[in-house]
Amino acid sequence: MARRAIYPGTFDPLTNGHVDIIARGCQLFDEVIVALLVNPGKSPMFTVPERVEILNQVLTPRFPQVRIETFEGLLVDYCRQREVNAIIRGVRSFKDYEYELPMVLMNRRLNPDVETVLLVASEDNSYVSSSLIKEVFNLGGSIDGLVPDLVIERMRQKQ
Ligand code: PNS
Repeated sequence: MARRAIYPGTFDPLTNGHVDIIARGCQLFDEVIVALLVNPGKSPMFTVPERVEILNQVLTPRFPQVRIETFEGLLVDYCRQREVNAIIRGVRSFKDYEYELPMVLMNRRLNPDVETVLLVASEDNSYVSSSLIKEVFNLGGSIDGLVPDLVIERMRQKQ
C-alpha cells in the first residue's frame, strides 16, 4: 500500500523552508499532499488560487509524488476524507516545537489514527518564515535565495 502524508499550511508565501520539508517528506512517503488551508479569517498577501498556482509551478516539476490540494475545516477531518494517516510538519526551533506540540496532541485526540511526523528543517532555512519574508520584502530588503524565484516575481507584481 502506498504511504501517503499530508503537509498542511497556509503557504503565504511558499518559502525555501517549505520546499526543504517537502523534499524530506518525499524521501519518506510515496505521495505527499500539500494541503493549503482556505482560511477566510486571515488577510493573506496571495489569494488561494494564486498560492495554488505558485505551489503547482514550483513543486510539480520537481516532485512527481506531490499533489496540491486545498482544504477547509479540521485537518484531521480532511485526513479522514483523503484516507491519509500521516501529517508532516516542519520544525526549525524549540519555539516551533512548542507551537506544534499542542496541535499534534489535539489532532491525536481528535483522530488517534493520524500520526504527526515532525521533520527538522535544514539549518540554512532555520530562520526563514513566511511572515518574516513578507516583512523584509515590504521594507525593501532582499529575500533572494530564501524563497523560490517565482515567489519573488509574484511578490514584485503585487507592489
Ligand atoms: O502554515 P501554518 O499557518 O503554520 O499552518 C497551520 C495549519 C494549517 C497546519 C493549522 O492551522 C491547521 O491545521 N488548521 C486547520 C484547522 C484545524 O484543524 N485546527 C486544529 C489544529 S489542532
